[in-house]
Amino acid sequence: MARILITSGPTRQYLDPIRFLSNASSGRMGCALAAAALDAGHEVVVISGPVSISYPAAAEVIAAVTTQEMLAAAVEQFPSCDGAIGVAAPCDFAPLVVAGEKIKKTDGNLTLELGDTPDIMMALGKMKQEHQWSVGFALETENGRANALEKLRRKQFDLIVLNAADAMGSEVNSINVIDGSGESVRKFSGSKADAAVAIIEEIANL
Ligand code: C5P
Repeated sequence: MARILITSGPTRQYLDPIRFLSNASSGRMGCALAAAALDAGHEVVVISGPVSISYPAAAEVIAAVTTQEMLAAAVEQFPSCDGAIGVAAPCDFAPLVVAGEKIKKTDGNLTLELGDTPDIMMALGKMKQEHQWSVGFALETENGRANALEKLRRKQFDLIVLNAADAMGSEVNSINVIDGSGESVRKFSGSKADAAVAIIEEIANL
């Protein structure tokens, strides 16, 4: 049985002590994957951004707020794991300047300059040892398959799960699991719980 790292949920990038950039990721797909992996007899470590769902009690859960914090926790945990599933939706942009005090409302516009944030699964892909695997997710609004394949190669994933564009925050998902040769090894539409079981089965087939 394997020890599986799962990154899950959104991250936040603050612009002042009160306000942040984030996205609508609920952590539901990560939660479903944790449950399916535990049911299949695996050990699970979840690194999660702020979510309102609860992960299965048998999973070890590490909380992270920013993309940088999620990266630090993932890099620390990955060497003791057999593989990683990147289902988190880390915030890709961060304000270049974080105000120390709440930014005052004015009558004028506010312009924010944003920089990029580190790519967690790309970092794990570079650390990956011979015996380890990694699985990524792609949520695309156009050219889904081509973009997913490009991500699979760039981030050194062994499998990539192409999600429906409306999967974020939803109870259901349509997935297309694509392997390193570009072949679709599984297509499924239904609850995130059943999609997660299908994904864990495909990982076991790796
Ligand atoms: O490039 P894109 O963000 O669409 O790639 C999605 C995949 O990369 C997901 O598996 C996601 O968890 C991972 N990712 C990451 N760190 C980021 C952005 C995405 O691990 N900063």
